[in-house]
Amino acid sequence: MLRIAVLVSGGGTNLQAIIDGIAAETITDTEIAGVISNNKNAYALTRAKEAGIPGVVVSPKDYKDRETFNQALLDAVDSMHVDLIVLAGFLVVIPEIMIDAYPNKIINIHPSLIPAFCGTGFYGLKVHEAALARGVKVVGATVHFVDKGTDTGPIIMQKPVEVKNGDTPAILQKRVMEQAEWMILPAVIDKIAHGKVTVINKTAVVED
Ligand code: GAR
Repeated sequence: MLRIAVLVSGGGTNLQAIIDGIAAETITDTEIAGVISNNKNAYALTRAKEAGIPGVVVSPKDYKDRETFNQALLDAVDSMHVDLIVLAGFLVVIPEIMIDAYPNKIINIHPSLIPAFCGTGFYGLKVHEAALARGVKVVGATVHFVDKGTDTGPIIMQKPVEVKNGDTPAILQKRVMEQAEWMILPAVIDKIAHGKVTVINKTAVVED
């Protein structure tokens, strides 16, 4: 059984996709040990509660400095005894101490086809604003392992999504979620639960 912690900051639709995937058994041999949010008002916490999953808040605002917050975040994850950490819209830079403690055991969903529209400053709606400003015709989402860079870790799965005339950032964000994010994040978790993802020479290999 793969035990996962899901880290969130906002609406939690990707968390919901995982909860629903486990309920529908499109994700098997997996349990959510807990949800951690840096934001006490995140709707994701309500989703966790409604699903009977323990939720905790670890906010930088409650700690005297970044180092203390980083340690508290690591302690919260450690206390859940998990095999995998899933960043599902978690908008906090992952501390190096956590990356060292969980090598190739942290995955992130990013709302673009990496290496486009990623890195520092590209998160949430900003990604879709940049894609529309550049006029690309295909966007998408990526699930990748987290390393010490920003969105630089091994890519596990990607799915393209069409840009349509008249798209606004919000419309495009919704399409990318519906047609890519909510599909590939659960799919990757199921693959990892069944030992089908390995990293060889910084490249993720995914078995069918
Ligand atoms: C998602 O679109 C996710 O890809 C993005 O934040 C949103 C969270 O939505 N993550 C990033 O931009 C990370 N760089 P959710 O809370 O409804 O799952």
